Amino acid sequence: PNPEATPLYDLLDRAAQAYRTWLRRHGDKDRAVEYLRRRGLSGDVAARYGIGFAPPGWDNLLRELGNEKELVRAGLAIRKEETGSVYDRFRDRIMFPIRDRRGRTVGFGGRVLDQGEPKYLNSPETPVFHKGRELYGLHECLQAQRYPDHMLVVEGYMDVVALAQQGLPNAVATLGTATTTDQVERLFRTTRNVVFCFDGDEAGRQAAWRALENTLPAMRDDRQARFLFLPDGEDPDSLVRQLGADGFRAQVGDALSLSQFLLKELSRDADVQTVDGRARLLERAATTVRRVPPGVFRDLLVDEVARYARVDRVHMERAVGGDGTARP
Ligand code: GTP
Ligand code: MN
Ligand code: MN
Ligand code: MN
Ligand code: MN
Repeated sequence: PNPEATPLYDLLDRAAQAYRTWLRRHGDKDRAVEYLRRRGLSGDVAARYGIGFAPPGWDNLLRELGNEKELVRAGLAIRKEETGSVYDRFRDRIMFPIRDRRGRTVGFGGRVLDQGEPKYLNSPETPVFHKGRELYGLHECLQAQRYPDHMLVVEGYMDVVALAQQGLPNAVATLGTATTTDQVERLFRTTRNVVFCFDGDEAGRQAAWRALENTLPAMRDDRQARFLFLPDGEDPDSLVRQLGADGFRAQVGDALSLSQFLLKELSRDADVQTVDGRARLLERAATTVRRVPPGVFRDLLVDEVARYARVDRVHMERAVGGDGTARP
């Protein structure tokens, strides 16, 4: 255990408690409660995810918890360089505690109640919070299901809680960053089936491709990754509220397999009718497939790409580096 971290966990936990209490009892709570209700959240789901409210004002948390220095270290307060004065980082926001797998609060995401900027504010990196490593909702998912058959990876806090609200508690969110190899490994230590489900916008499609690239090194024969593409302008929150749990499950059932998504992307503007196009497709595919560890899954992927590009698998294997070792 990291001796520097222990007081931070304690402080973060007390902050989460304070935000929760303010959502129930602060003089300004009505706007926050109304906001959550408008977004369709029940008190029960809000409680399960520990959602709270940081009231307007510069020093609510500072006064509640004291200890300026540790609050700055925990990412909950900011010290102004010039004057040395300290103020609360999160003000007038809906607060989503980010918990580690064991349930300890390690950071927060805070959403504005109106059109303000930035829409979401996250905790900075601290000794206990590393964005590329945590998955929002993982702890809550494991509380609901010890061994989830599959897990959904979404972009946002609201996507996670909206899915839980509709009876799908097995969603986690990356924290506004690309899915990392580290997060993918964590996911596959929890379940064998991961379904990526990003927004139906350009950012979401790019995020899906990045996720695919970072999933390849984790692919083993007993693991499955799939990709769900939402209609334009929709995200899991908006879609599950339209379709309900069963409708959403049906969509998940239709998600593309990793190889389907891979081929779809690789064959964009590579015309397989021409030798040219096939060579280009092969070269692109090789770069990607090379990242998959040797095994049945990789062999099948090679087969599939070769068939699709209408080349002999020997060509494909040569392009990938057929001896099974990664080429530099
Ligand atoms: P809602 O508007 O509350 O439904 O949020 P959303 O999750 O649908 O947001 P959006 O699709 O715009 O963005 C996806 C994710 O990117 C969010 O959940 C955040 O994690 C992150 N994000 C969006 N806007 C910001 C921002 O202004 N700052 C930061 N740091 N992250 C953001
Ligand atoms: Mn560190
Ligand atoms: Mn989006
Ligand atoms: Mn949304
Ligand atoms: Mn969204």
